[in-house]
Amino acid sequence: MAVLVTGGAGYIGSHTCVELLEKDYEIVVIDNFSNSQPESLKRVSEITGKIFPVIEVDLRNREDVEDIFKQFNIQAVIHFAALKAVGESVTKSLLYYQNNLISLLNILDVMDQYSVQQIVFSSSATVYGDNGRSPLKEETHTGAVNPYGQTKLMAEKILEDLSASNREWKSVILRYFNPVGAHESGKIGEDPGGVPNNLMPYLSQVAVGQRTHLSVFGCDYPTKDGTGVRDYIHIMDLAAGHVKALQFLENNEGCHTFNLGTGKGYSVLEMIHVFQQVTGIPIPYQIVDRRAGDIAECFANPKKAEKHLEWKAVRTLSDMCRDTWRWQSSNPFGYHPQSKMKTKKASGA
Ligand code: NAD
Ligand code: UFG
Repeated sequence: MAVLVTGGAGYIGSHTCVELLEKDYEIVVIDNFSNSQPESLKRVSEITGKIFPVIEVDLRNREDVEDIFKQFNIQAVIHFAALKAVGESVTKSLLYYQNNLISLLNILDVMDQYSVQQIVFSSSATVYGDNGRSPLKEETHTGAVNPYGQTKLMAEKILEDLSASNREWKSVILRYFNPVGAHESGKIGEDPGGVPNNLMPYLSQVAVGQRTHLSVFGCDYPTKDGTGVRDYIHIMDLAAGHVKALQFLENNEGCHTFNLGTGKGYSVLEMIHVFQQVTGIPIPYQIVDRRAGDIAECFANPKKAEKHLEWKAVRTLSDMCRDTWRWQSSNPFGYHPQSKMKTKKASGA
């Protein structure tokens, strides 16, 4: 019996595969590699010393998804596969609705047909929009402000309705806050491809010399130092949350939603400061205008996951910065070693 990991070659999926294999789960990975490289999964094998099936499948194609269920004995699914760039979702909304929702509907439909009715779904803190005051609890009113967030809200609703219609269906919805960092080995990490949208990959590309400076988006928010505050969570803590979610599914009916965050908020300037301290590398930055659509503050109340999943984030912000840097400095171009751009020599951790 295996766990099917969709989107398993991606950032969160690849780290979760390591965690699953180390906990002796059998896995099958499917991905269309639209935002990832097969190399990440080769490295998962290197880290764990285990091999597992990897099949190129686009989840929008139902027949290909069904072939996987014909071929393998699947016991549960962790569904990571989705497009996730907020800005792109505004300009290519149809692509986002098609990719994220048709993929979900196909996998659920095939699962139902094969009586595989346990799923862990990747949602996001983005579903809270700008509604609640942090720390955010799961019952906070939701309201997405972009098509990407809408796909997550719609997906959550589909899973809730499915469990309500049939008690055999068990689902866990995980609302991630801001995943950062990399596996402690430095062999796998976040490889955004192109100009990173998110703070940590941008910051580490500045550190490695690929970008001249970091733009800090706004310094006039009502926060501790005026810059945006987020709940950064180490990717391996997040990965561990998925194993806990699978264990929870074995004994719990219905659809359950959990925040996965640390409960602590750090500002952009604090992130720069800690990164510099941990790595010894200066990060040039400039304060610029706010980025459209950003909110001032967003951090989790993680108590529900602590209580019911028996999960808690244990790694510190220093761990997150150290592991980000180990990955970035030993893989300056992510999974593309051939790039000719000049980089600084790695130092620090
Ligand atoms: P990622 O882009 O690194 O991984 C997603 C993977 O899904 C990629 O390997 C991609 O090739 C694959 N994929 C996309 N569409 C597919 C399709 N139609 N068929 C098959 N494979 C497909 O992203 P990630 O950061 O690992 O995110 C994983 C999940 O977590 C996503 O659902 C994302 O929305 C969600 N999430 C991510 C963050 C974050 O900050 N990284 C935050 C909250 C939620
Ligand atoms: N920031 C900068 N400069 C940058 C990038 C980001 O100052 O170059 C700031 C942002 O303004 C924000 C903070 O750093 O205050 C974090 O920004 P990210 O882009 O890293 O993360 P967001 O919280 O904006 O969004 C991310 C994902 C969303 C997801 C959300 C919650 O991009 O998809 O976390 O999980 F919904």
